[in-house]
Amino acid sequence: MPEGMIGQSPVRVDGRAKVTGTAHYASDMAVPNPAWAFLVTSAVARGRVTEIDEAGARQVAGVLDILTHRNMRGEVRDAGFFAGGGYVAETMRPLEDDQVHHDGDIVAVVLAETYEQAREAAYRLRVDYAEERPSAGFGSEGAEQVTAKEASKGSFEDPAVGDADAAFAAAAVTIEADYATPTQHHNPIELFTTTASWEDGRLTILEGSQYVHGLRNGIAAQLGMDPSLVRVESPFVGGAFGSRGSLTQRTALIAVAARRLRRPVKLVATRDQGFTIATYRAETRQHVKLGAGGDGKLVALVHEGVEVTSRPDPYKVAGTQTTCRMYACPNIRTKVSILHADRNTPGFMRSPPEVPYMFALESAMDELAVKLGMDPIELRRVNDTMHEPIKGLPWTSRGLMQCFDTGAAAFGWKRRNPAPGSMRDGDWLVGWGCASTIYPTHLGAATARVTLTPDGHARVQTAAHDVGTGTYTVVAQAAAEGLGLPLAKVVVEMGSSELPPAPVSGGSNVTASVCTVVMQACEQIRARLAAAAQEGPLKGRDPASLRLVDGTLRAADGTAEPLAEAMGRASNGAIEVYAENIPHGLPPDSLKKLYQGRQALGGGLEGKDRAMAAFGAEFVEVRVHARTREVRVPRILGAFAAGRIVNPRTARSQLMGGLIWGIGSALHEATEIDRGRARYVNDNIAEYLIPVNADVPQVDVLFVDEADRQVNDLGIKGLGELGNVGTNAAIANAVFHATGKRVRELPIRIESLI
Ligand code: MOS
Repeated sequence: MPEGMIGQSPVRVDGRAKVTGTAHYASDMAVPNPAWAFLVTSAVARGRVTEIDEAGARQVAGVLDILTHRNMRGEVRDAGFFAGGGYVAETMRPLEDDQVHHDGDIVAVVLAETYEQAREAAYRLRVDYAEERPSAGFGSEGAEQVTAKEASKGSFEDPAVGDADAAFAAAAVTIEADYATPTQHHNPIELFTTTASWEDGRLTILEGSQYVHGLRNGIAAQLGMDPSLVRVESPFVGGAFGSRGSLTQRTALIAVAARRLRRPVKLVATRDQGFTIATYRAETRQHVKLGAGGDGKLVALVHEGVEVTSRPDPYKVAGTQTTCRMYACPNIRTKVSILHADRNTPGFMRSPPEVPYMFALESAMDELAVKLGMDPIELRRVNDTMHEPIKGLPWTSRGLMQCFDTGAAAFGWKRRNPAPGSMRDGDWLVGWGCASTIYPTHLGAATARVTLTPDGHARVQTAAHDVGTGTYTVVAQAAAEGLGLPLAKVVVEMGSSELPPAPVSGGSNVTASVCTVVMQACEQIRARLAAAAQEGPLKGRDPASLRLVDGTLRAADGTAEPLAEAMGRASNGAIEVYAENIPHGLPPDSLKKLYQGRQALGGGLEGKDRAMAAFGAEFVEVRVHARTREVRVPRILGAFAAGRIVNPRTARSQLMGGLIWGIGSALHEATEIDRGRARYVNDNIAEYLIPVNADVPQVDVLFVDEADRQVNDLGIKGLGELGNVGTNAAIANAVFHATGKRVRELPIRIESLI
C-alpha cells in the first residue's frame, strides 16, 4: 500500500512550512504600502459616547484618519445574526451611533502610517461617556431572562419525553443539584487580524477564518456588494476553536477604512481587545434532577440551563439536546433559558454545548452512583442504550461501554477503593474519577475540484480550512487513497473563497464532509481512467484494482500502461472533476446555502432517521494536598470510539489537546468579571489561566475500533471536539473521591476545597 493512505499516520504535509516560517498566516501576507489601524475600545459597558476630542491624536505624526460614529454612520449595514440565517456573530454595530453596547465595544479606529503611530494616537484620543449602570449577568439588576423557546420564536423546542417530574417524585433514589460554569475565552495564539485592500471595486480580505465563504457573503451583505467582488484568503489559521467561525464587526470597519484611504489597511487587534471584539463561551447556571431505581436504572432526568448573552442576540448552545440523549430514560424534561445582559455576544467555543452541560450531567451521574453505592462505570452500563430516548432514533454505532472497558483496563480502575479519602499517599489525597464523553457527528454539504495531470500529480481544491487540526493532511490522504497515488504527489489548496465552497470548520464536521466529496471526485476520475484503460493494455481489468504508481497505471496482476497514454484517450491533458455532495438526511437546499455562506450543519443527534455521535470514556487521577488543598492531575486517559480514524497521529493530537483543555476547564480557566461595571478583569494570557506542561504530566489516548458505514461512506465521525467533553466532570468526580467534597462550580480552585 502506498504511504499516506487513509488510516496511516503521515506527518503533516504543512509541517515543514510551519516550522520553517514559510506558512503565511493571513496577517503575514504582504500587501503593498499598508496603512495601520488601531482600535479604540470603550471604557464603559453601557452608555453613550458624549464627546470625542481628536486634537491630541491628530497631532501624532503619520495619522491618516480617525473613524468614529460621527463619520461612519450608515457605512456598514446589518447582515443579520448568523444563528438566524444571517452572517454576523454579534449584531451590535460599532460606529453606527453613539451607543456603547458592552465593555470593549469599538468606539473609534485610528489609521496611521505605522502601527506604532496608530497606537500612540489611539492612546491620545479622548473619549467621554455618559455611563449607565450595566448588568453583568447572573444576579445583576436589569438582566432579562427569557426561555430559548420564546427567544427563538418557536424554532427551538426543549426536548422532553414522558412525565419527568412525576417520575422523579416517585423514584427510589434521587439527586438534585445546581452546577455553574464560568465565562471562558478562546485566546487563539494568532491574534484577531484583518487586512483589507481594494482594486477596481473588488475587495480582498486577508483574515484567519473558519468559514471563508460565510465571511465573503457576510462582508458583501454588510457593504451592499455582490459577493463575487469579495475575496477572502485564509491559508493558515493560528487557532480558532470557534472564535473565527462567523463574521465579527471589525472586518467591515477595516474594509471601509481601506476604501476611504484608497490603500490597504491592516489591523492586528491586541490580546485584551480580542476578549471583547470576538466571541467567547457563555457563563451558565444549571439545575439537574436524576431519579433512579435501586438497580441504578434512570427513571427521571430533568436538566435546566441558563446562559448569559448580549442584549440583542439570542445566542445559546442548549447542551440539554445532548445530555437528554446520553442515557436510556423514559421520563425527561429539559429547559434552556438565556439571560440578556450588557455583554458582548458569546459564540461557539470548542464543544460549545457539551463542555458546560456534560459537566453537570456527568457530575450528577457520579453523585447518583455514590448515593446508590454503585461503581460509576456500572451506572453508565445499566443505562446504556442503542436508541436515543427522545425520538427513539437508533444510534448508528455507540462505543461508549467499549471505551469504558478499554479505558478502565488501561487505567487500572479495578484497584480503586470507592470510599472517598481512602487512597491517601503521604500528604496527598488521591482520587480517581471518570466521565463519559460524546460529540455529535455533524455533516455538511461540500464541494471540491480534483485535477489529475498526465505526470501523475493530483491537485485538490476546496475552501475548507486548516485551523491547526491537520486538515491539509487528511484531505491529501483521502485523495491519495482515492486515486492510488503517493501522498507526495497530492497538492491540497484550501482557505480561499475563490475555491469550491466547503463547510464551516466547526462542529467537527470537516474531515467527514470534505474527505467524502474529495473521494467522490477521485472516484469519477478513476472511472474515466478505467474506461480509457479498457481500450489499452489494461482491457478487462477490474477498475477498482487500478493504482497509479510512478506515473503508471497498474492492475493487480501487474499489467501496466503509462498514465499519460491512458489519459490521452480520456481527455486532452489533465482530468478535472468538480464534485458536490449533500450528506444523507440533509435538506436539498443545503448546497445552495453553502454557496450563500449560510450553511447549517446536519446529522448529529437529530438526524432524519438516525442519531450519530462519537463517544468516549475519560479517566483521571487527581492528588489534592491534605493541607494546602493544591490540586494536581498526574495522569489522564481517554478511550475514544470515533468511527474510522483517517490519521491516528493528527487524531491523537486533537484528543490530547482536548483532554488538556479539559484540565484547564476544570481547574484553571475563567474570565473574571467586575460585576459592578460588567467589564472583563483578566483579559490577558498572564492572568487568564490555562494548563502548562507542568500541569500535565501524563496523557494517554486510546482508540476503540469502530466501523460505521451509516454515518457516511467513509465511516468518519470527526473527533476534534470530542476530547474536552466530560473531562471537567471526571476531574470534579476525582476531587470528590479524593476529598469527599463535591464541587459543582468551575473552575475548582484551592478556595473551593478549604
Ligand atoms: Mo468549533 S467551537 O465547532 O469551531
